[in-house]
Amino acid sequence: MCGIVGAVAQRNVVPILLEGLKRLEYRGYDSAGLVVATGNTLTRLRKPGRVAELEAEIKKQKTHGHLGIAHTRWATHGAPTERNAHPHVSEDSLAVVHNGIIENHEELRLRLSGMGYCFTSDTDTEVIVHLIHHHYQQKKDLLGATRLAVAELKGAYAIGVICADAPNKLVCAREGSPLLIGVGIEEHFIASDQSALLPVTQKIVYLEEGDVAEIGLLDFKIIDRNGKPANRQVQISELRAERAELGSYRHFMQKEIFEQPRALAETLEAVLGYGSLDPKIFGEKAEKVLKAIDSVTIIACGTSFHAATVARYWLEGVAGIPCSAEVASEYRYRDSVPNPKTLIVTISQSGETADTVAALKHAKASGHKYSLSICNVPESALVRESDLRFLTRAGPEIGVASTKAFTTQLAALFLLVLVLGKLRGRIDAAQEKGHLDALRHLPSMISQVLLLEPQIELWAERMASRQHALFLGRGPHYPIAMEGALKLKEISYIHAEAYPAGELKHGPLALVDSDMPVVAIAPNDALLEKLKSNLQEVRARGGELYVLADQDSHVSPQEGVHLIKLPEHAGLLSPILHTVPLQMLAYHTALQKGTDVDKPRNLAKSVTVE
Ligand code: G6P
Repeated sequence: MCGIVGAVAQRNVVPILLEGLKRLEYRGYDSAGLVVATGNTLTRLRKPGRVAELEAEIKKQKTHGHLGIAHTRWATHGAPTERNAHPHVSEDSLAVVHNGIIENHEELRLRLSGMGYCFTSDTDTEVIVHLIHHHYQQKKDLLGATRLAVAELKGAYAIGVICADAPNKLVCAREGSPLLIGVGIEEHFIASDQSALLPVTQKIVYLEEGDVAEIGLLDFKIIDRNGKPANRQVQISELRAERAELGSYRHFMQKEIFEQPRALAETLEAVLGYGSLDPKIFGEKAEKVLKAIDSVTIIACGTSFHAATVARYWLEGVAGIPCSAEVASEYRYRDSVPNPKTLIVTISQSGETADTVAALKHAKASGHKYSLSICNVPESALVRESDLRFLTRAGPEIGVASTKAFTTQLAALFLLVLVLGKLRGRIDAAQEKGHLDALRHLPSMISQVLLLEPQIELWAERMASRQHALFLGRGPHYPIAMEGALKLKEISYIHAEAYPAGELKHGPLALVDSDMPVVAIAPNDALLEKLKSNLQEVRARGGELYVLADQDSHVSPQEGVHLIKLPEHAGLLSPILHTVPLQMLAYHTALQKGTDVDKPRNLAKSVTVE
């Protein structure tokens, strides 16, 4: 979502802020801006569009300073225009950048307008800067004024604040949105994500909910929500400083699709060296916890929710444990019936999706004792909030449309299925060996599927001229159909819907005519014959079929039936394999249409607001 970076140093901080924004840009990219203090004046530059536009303006204006805050925005309140871009300022003397949403902004806006403050944007953020300014007038203490102001805010925020009167001081605060301090040598930084700071420091201090901090050149102090000084540990980031590079690929999404064999191999590396799986792969206490539970609830958003839905089929079918999969934004506000013996599993690439983090907190507050997160970012909020964890090792995912994160999540979930299946006596040693052998073979099977790209490109050429598409699957391939439809709509803007193929005649069949491409996932599993009947129903109405089958699926190409066969049937792991051609289909369709593949309109990589 939006990104924040700030710095106080003896050197010019503008290049640091700019590099930080570039590293955060994939998370939100409709406008960008910065403010720097030079002497006792604030200089602000803002631009709608990408960070590159801001960079050009900075070069033109030769902007520099030793203290500054910067922001890349994903619009919530107010269109993505210059006047709504951050930083927002009050009376030319105080500036704020903000991630999150202030829910009581209307009420505060009325009050502050009554005091004479003039609003120049449509954002919720502008109330924060005027509110801090108001308190600063009484106290002349930036930290104290910020504490008083945030106490009046309802909603989620991570903010960075600077003031023209205090040229060596940066104040920040967080509640519901991530924020951290970077520790340098006689310089300090803030950022919403550690990746922004990696070129300047790997020493990170994570702020906790309700913290407010004052950061100077030499030191910083943190005050907790009760007004007490707080000691937060300095941690060394495990991330590497190199910015993800495209290499020979045209887009990060393409690169990330092709990285999947490596991402899967690395995710599975630590566990496949042994003949048998140890529950400890999920944490020291995992065996005790996994023996104590009687059901699993998996909570996630977006693509991660599709991984949850596949896992539901696996957990019930293979491990024999009741499982439900829930969309986080629904779960957190639903009156569910807590069962203290349910394991709450959260899945997230970023580990900071606001709804998923809030859903976990909600589950714990409502009496759930056991939690496990499957995540791609080691020190993320979700990981820190969970008792047990499994880290996927997909590496940074930059393309907004998730690809390698999804398939590595599925691999991690399959490990959970195996461990639970063993503990519950549903999987014996020979079966475990068979499953582990299949997992070992998975990266090379994915490499084979990637070779289908030229055939997929031919499908994409046809798909690109369509307005709509229907995706069908059955069993654990139904969520893969959902994922295929999501990928297509996200990056090519073609309206796509997924249905369990058995539901076709309960509504969606009415949409089928010669203009409706129907993508069907037809692995050689127990439901294949039933699926074939569903496909006949489509053909009989003139629908054009695009069938992804396995070598031995016994489906033949014919008029109106385009067929691609995957090299082999992967058994229970088949959903992972069938995902890959759908990712390539979306990618090549988007290429044909000329859309911005890595930064599709209106979306953001990491959704840190609800
Ligand atoms: C956004 C991204 C999706 C992602 C979803 C959940 O919508 O664009 O690609 O699946 O957030 O993100 P998470 O980091 O929690 O997996």
